Amino acid sequence: ALAGAALAKERREIKQQQVNDEMEAVPKDLNQPWVDPMPEPGERNFASDLRGIAATNGGGRDKDPEWKKTLFSKATSYGKVTDLSIQEQRRSLPVFKLRTNLIQAVSENQVLIVVGDTGSGKTTQMTQYLYEEGFAENGRIGCTQPRRVAATSVAKRVAEEMGVRLGQEVGYTIRFEDCTGPDTAVKYLTDGILQREILVDPLLQAYSVIILDEAHERTIATDVLFGLLKKTIRARPDLKLIVTSATLDAEKFSQYFFNCPIFTIPGRTFPVDVLYAKEPESDYLDASLVTVMQIHLFEPAGDILLFLTGQEEIDTSCEILFERMKALGPMVPQLIILPVYSALPSDMQSKIFEPAPPGSRKIVISTNIAETSVTIDGIFYVIDPGFVKQGAYDPKLGMDSLVVTPISQAQARQRAGRAGRTGPGKCYRLYTEAAYRNEMLPNTIPEIQRTNLANTVLTLKAMGINDLLHFDFMDPPPVQTLLTALEQLYSLNALDDEGLLTRMGRRMAELPLDPALAKMLLISVDLKCSEEILTIVSMLSVPNIFYRPKEKQAVADARRAKFQQPEGDHLTLLTVFNGWKASNYSNSWCLEQYVQARSIRRSQDIRKQLLSFMDRYKHDMVSCGKNYTQVRRAICAGFFTHAAKKDPTEGYKTLVEGTPVFIHPSSALYNKSPEWLIYHELVLTTREYMREVTAVEPKWLVEVAPRFFQVADANKISRRKRRERIEPLLKPYEGHNDWRISKVRH
Ligand code: CDP
Ligand code: MG
Repeated sequence: ALAGAALAKERREIKQQQVNDEMEAVPKDLNQPWVDPMPEPGERNFASDLRGIAATNGGGRDKDPEWKKTLFSKATSYGKVTDLSIQEQRRSLPVFKLRTNLIQAVSENQVLIVVGDTGSGKTTQMTQYLYEEGFAENGRIGCTQPRRVAATSVAKRVAEEMGVRLGQEVGYTIRFEDCTGPDTAVKYLTDGILQREILVDPLLQAYSVIILDEAHERTIATDVLFGLLKKTIRARPDLKLIVTSATLDAEKFSQYFFNCPIFTIPGRTFPVDVLYAKEPESDYLDASLVTVMQIHLFEPAGDILLFLTGQEEIDTSCEILFERMKALGPMVPQLIILPVYSALPSDMQSKIFEPAPPGSRKIVISTNIAETSVTIDGIFYVIDPGFVKQGAYDPKLGMDSLVVTPISQAQARQRAGRAGRTGPGKCYRLYTEAAYRNEMLPNTIPEIQRTNLANTVLTLKAMGINDLLHFDFMDPPPVQTLLTALEQLYSLNALDDEGLLTRMGRRMAELPLDPALAKMLLISVDLKCSEEILTIVSMLSVPNIFYRPKEKQAVADARRAKFQQPEGDHLTLLTVFNGWKASNYSNSWCLEQYVQARSIRRSQDIRKQLLSFMDRYKHDMVSCGKNYTQVRRAICAGFFTHAAKKDPTEGYKTLVEGTPVFIHPSSALYNKSPEWLIYHELVLTTREYMREVTAVEPKWLVEVAPRFFQVADANKISRRKRRERIEPLLKPYEGHNDWRISKVRH
């Protein structure tokens, strides 16, 4: 156990080093409302039950904590106080003066890099200018966003500016949600969606202009699109490509795109005073909140922007600030507290753009969305604790996780810049100047160099791009990460011995799902349980199905217990969904059963979307009734790399690496401890917890993944192992790496 703890610690340290750029776009949420039995020292859990309540039901606001209720009443009572009409606002943006020059530059060049500070109008105005100038006559103007929340909120804003209904001339498409129509000329979409569209049509014939927006974020999808679009524009001289950036990567982008011109929108920024902490802060959350109060009480007027790492932390801080303000009484000027994160209900999202009424001050507490994706006017003070939550991938362990890591110097500068948009500002860095200079990386590591690439590799293979080592990546991913992805796809039977796409691989690529989920769904057709697996996949795709408020934990747990299935959590999710279905998808059922209505409704949406894919590709929908064995086999077929075996001493060990792992206390199997199980994901806190586990038979593993597991040769193994009789073919390519590389080259 000691060695295990040391290992977990070491791995955490390794992950901490891999720096940055948050994964808001990833639909994974590790902040589920469960109190960890072994919380980190000083970890605050009490806000965990505030999550997602606002949207649980139509009139459910009375359940909100006091700070949220106040926020709503305040925000709605003061309304829009802006004195500029929407057209005046458009004309006041820095890009407006350059409209003619910009149009000319686009007309004269096939590729153009556009650089401008956040808030200069790139995202909302360029599409409109091009539309007004007739660029949408022979195809759509597409504008990609790295985050879903940015794609939807920007589309809404632009529809409003153009005076049209969202989904008509202006629309958006994000995964599992398409709000476009035949008239749509300006389409905002996530970069992930464009990656899927280019797979279907490499020439992107529906478009006349593509704007790769927020390219400085360097998401995997944007990086892959760089390489793919380079080919597309060669084949389609009439297609315009605009790449925008809020930072200094422009030179690099230009070099990559045939030394194309760079169009700069001069900023109108004011100086920002940067103040550093004298000593390293041991508790950045507490330091942040103290700083907020100091600014509010002692500094001149101006709104505050505080960067924190995630939803839970942000809600907690809102609550603490609210309580502290209340304790100060009515003599103190009002502080309007506004949270910003991607899962925020949209009615609350729009509040952040509204100015604070005279005499009061606004504090916006945001994830790194407010670094570049979202611009809030009137910010004079920025508080930067120096951290971000981002996805990290360990190619050796084959595991993804979200971890809080230090930001890069580039991010720190970007954050500070947010204080100088309206006038001279101040940025409070809650770390020392030495830490900034010596400990932070100069630039954020692109996502492609730090995450699992199985999905990306599958997409590229499906496009006929087999030579991945020579793909024109702006910054190539590590070879080891590519190899791991190839191995994973091979073991899922998506690639053959030659590294070429199999029939199964082709079908997997057609589904908008990660490879393991896609495999599980496709196999379920053969196993005659696709109805059930489709529901499970949909339920796994949304966070927080169960609602567990702090003061009603016992009731909530009792309700949940009724759904729990002896085989495990996947089937519990199925049972919950079917229970809701039997109630005719009723809201009151959700309330009674302590199920988050918003989450389960979203999973229903996802299910519908996936069902249309099943129809389109003629995959049968069949039910296995209560024969859950088939369901568990299908889970095995997708997630066999997530197998774990009970450890004689304590907890479990993963089959692949022997990492010590534990069943999460919220699981149906927490007290059952079956010998073998499959987990959906790992959550790393002080321990490595398995979330969503299902008991399986070891022989299924060999059946569904013969390329990955073998029954151990009885002569060669120890007596202890003989009882287990099954082991993974560890690193199937060990010693073959050279072969692998040379194969891929052809
Ligand atoms: O893309 P860039 O950062 O250059 O600017 P933008 O997103 O086009 O924003 C231009 C202006 O529109 C900013 O002043 C924003 O405050 C405003 N905006 C808004 O009011 N509501 C939105 N949903 C998006 C932008
Ligand atoms: Mg923008």
